[in-house]
Amino acid sequence: MAQKSRLSFSGQPLDQASFLAYFLGAVVPLAALVYVTQKYIEVARLQEGLEGTLFQSRPFILGLILSIGVLSLASFLALRRVSRQALARMDSENQRLVALLKENEELQEAQRNFFIHITHILTSALDSHLGYHSDHSSNVARLSVRLGRRIRLDPERLERLHFAALLHDIGMLKIDGTLLEDKRALRKHSEIGAEMLESISLWQDLAPFVLHHHEWFDGNGYPEEIEGEAIPLESRIIGLAEAFDSMTSSVSYKAAIDVPQALERIKGSSGTQFDPRLAKAFVELAEDGELQPG
Ligand SMILES: [Fe+2]
Repeated sequence: MAQKSRLSFSGQPLDQASFLAYFLGAVVPLAALVYVTQKYIEVARLQEGLEGTLFQSRPFILGLILSIGVLSLASFLALRRVSRQALARMDSENQRLVALLKENEELQEAQRNFFIHITHILTSALDSHLGYHSDHSSNVARLSVRLGRRIRLDPERLERLHFAALLHDIGMLKIDGTLLEDKRALRKHSEIGAEMLESISLWQDLAPFVLHHHEWFDGNGYPEEIEGEAIPLESRIIGLAEAFDSMTSSVSYKAAIDVPQALERIKGSSGTQFDPRLAKAFVELAEDGELQPG
């Protein structure tokens, strides 16, 4: 493991090569000192002649060698102790880090569960507020995800698309029930919905998808009348899924049309209301029998 191959000394990282260099750095100068001292004594012995100095120099040399040995050993033991302390500290820091990461994962999971539950509570409230069409939010989410998968969006983007589609009409909750058939009042729902999402950090990134889900590919939609690729892809997907679900569902002011008729309308509005690439992919989904629930 990484922490076993790395030591530290005085707070600095120290790998095995540095450890060896440090050890040699302590031993080599001392060995050089022994060598020089020996030479010095030999010269002195030659100059001063002899037995007495030879006899007197031996304890000095032995003492010196012993001191050097003790110094080297002390240096090695001190370094080993420091290294062990550093490893122990790194171990406990690693354990603390692992515990923090686990805690963070649990927190994220709890946050995600909360997010899912609140989304479903809100969409249920929304569907009953709209009254006429109880599964609109979940139908649009299902169709959006299938279309997103068809054009190969990655799983993370598909998940955000799923939540944005569930919440796409959330602004309707703030429109008075008596105004739900007033087209001018209804047109405000995408802006109101985006404002609602912007105020919640977990949903902020979904706000643009909701804001633009009624834009048209040719720029004739609302609220900002942007066109083509300027409309977020998620908004174009949700807009198409919502249009299909609305066409094939009966509401108080209009009867449902059947799926082949709805697909013909989508083909007819390709390039005007709908992104042609998405309209084509949606028709292919229908031909492959992938529009049904389940
Ligand atoms: Fe809408």
